[in-house]
Amino acid sequence: MAPTVGVVMGSKSDWGIMQHAVSTLEELGIKTEARVMSAHRTPDVAIEFSKTAEERGLEVIIAAAGGAAHLAGVMAAKTTIPVLGVPIQAWSLDGLDSLLSTVQMPRGIPVGTLAIGKAGAVNAALLAGQILGLKYPEVADAVKADRARRRDAVLADSDPRV
Ligand code: RP5
Repeated sequence: MAPTVGVVMGSKSDWGIMQHAVSTLEELGIKTEARVMSAHRTPDVAIEFSKTAEERGLEVIIAAAGGAAHLAGVMAAKTTIPVLGVPIQAWSLDGLDSLLSTVQMPRGIPVGTLAIGKAGAVNAALLAGQILGLKYPEVADAVKADRARRRDAVLADSDPRV
């Protein structure tokens, strides 16, 4: 059975970035459950999602939010499966607010925090693939193939003048 990753985001306005996490997971052969929920606007839904994630078969959660970005932390508070956080650039402060809100978790409740924005969304998916690759050889192979494609793309276009 293919592994499943939950991809949650604080607002539908985060989808433009988080679609890159979902498409990268799909490229690795990982199923996704994508949902909009908010640590602040729908806290009960967020807690229920996280609390039941493991029994529903999720093996990693990727959580994205912008501004006072507490969604990943709320996810991490209610589950022991790995939670990866993606800070979204919001309406001010260029995403630094989101980054610090996501990364500065108290001791004992980790969130693996990635870069702000699209790079973080793609890397969260790849890191989820690396985690799941420890259990699913076909995912490990897909991650290695992705890495090789990225290397080949650089080598095929390595003259900066053209
Ligand atoms: C956060 O506030 C969301 O994650 C989003 O990044 C940001 C803005 O949300 P909207 O006002 O666009 O819904 O909760």
